[in-house]
Amino acid sequence: MTAAPFLRVQNLTRWYPIRRGVLRRTVGHIKAVDGVNLEIYPGETLGIVGESGCGKSTLARTLIALEEPTSGSIEVQLNGTLESVSTLTPDSWKDFRRSVQIVFQNPKEAMNPRMSVFDIIAEPLRIHGLRDVDELRKRVYELLTCVGLQPMHARRFPDAFSGGQLQRVGIARALALKPRLIIADEPVSALDVSVQAQILNLLGKLKHEFSLSYLFIAHNLNVVKYISDRIAVMYLGKIVEIGPAEHIFAQPRHPYTRSLMEALPATHPSRRKTMRTLLQGDLPDPASPPQGCRFHPRCRFATDICRTSVPVLQKSLDAHWTACHHSDTLSPYPV
Ligand SMILES: Nc1ncnc2c1ncn2[C@@H]1O[C@H](COP(=O)(O)OP(=O)(O)OP(=O)(O)O)[C@@H](O)[C@H]1O
Ligand code: SF4
Ligand SMILES: [Mg+2]
Repeated sequence: MTAAPFLRVQNLTRWYPIRRGVLRRTVGHIKAVDGVNLEIYPGETLGIVGESGCGKSTLARTLIALEEPTSGSIEVQLNGTLESVSTLTPDSWKDFRRSVQIVFQNPKEAMNPRMSVFDIIAEPLRIHGLRDVDELRKRVYELLTCVGLQPMHARRFPDAFSGGQLQRVGIARALALKPRLIIADEPVSALDVSVQAQILNLLGKLKHEFSLSYLFIAHNLNVVKYISDRIAVMYLGKIVEIGPAEHIFAQPRHPYTRSLMEALPATHPSRRKTMRTLLQGDLPDPASPPQGCRFHPRCRFATDICRTSVPVLQKSLDAHWTACHHSDTLSPYPV
């Protein structure tokens, strides 16, 4: 990527204090996001995958400023140059709020059941100053049409929709302020497989129509592969591999990424393995991550250095970065 990124994240951490006792003393921290670096370029889709609890949603919420970072920086390009989100002027802050939107896994939980779809989609427009009733109606109807619904759906309430339709409403709401980046946190995980494909196709269509960037979070590597230009693999608060989607799939260099790949359903059921059979044990506690490489207690390639020294992301092939002491000496994939 040669263009300037739309968003740049450096050494980002988000720790949650663990408090105990009557005085609620802080006795430790859950290191949900622990030193993440990444960039999102205009018009690209960056997929993020990793096991449950590895910090994907915390990263999403921190990027959209729903949570404050514990440390590190988030910069955004609003007026041609990258500016730190923490020092934006009030006008630029409003612009940032408009430019970065989120779509949640479960739209029903994110919507007020007593609001009509019209009001759900119109709310961000009203907050950002659009008051004219005719203009609001026109814009809401346009947005509904964009996501494959109809103006008549505006009168209905969330309970009257299927999961897929409701996710379309969530996407319409996210589009209302003409954002540049949409953070989609597992937007299809709660949907039936047939509906998942429809929503993924819709997101692909909208990306081209509105020149959007996406940060697309999923458990399922196949879903991420389908939609992403680049993929970042997250493990226990850190990114352990990041690169172009086709490189990651053709030649995964991190043992954890390989385990995720091997867990993908094989075409023949007898060859199907679950992630639990391929990865020893559960994700460690993010309050006390293992020393050295965080993946070492579960890694079949671990050696002494892995137990003491933290591997940093190193560029291997073009724009493909891996944090593993032994990624250069692993046998070609698949083994
Ligand atoms: N508000 C919070 N307070 C304390 N701990 C939290 C909070 N939010 C998240 N965590 C912890 O941070 C870690 C990362 O959680 P997060 O929800 O970001 O993971 P995730 O990768 O999105 O998981 P999933 O795939 O299940 O959605 C977990 O250990 C979680 O329990
Ligand atoms: S650094 Fe060592 S333990 Fe970590 S993934 Fe690489 S080989 Fe495995
Ligand atoms: Mg999550």
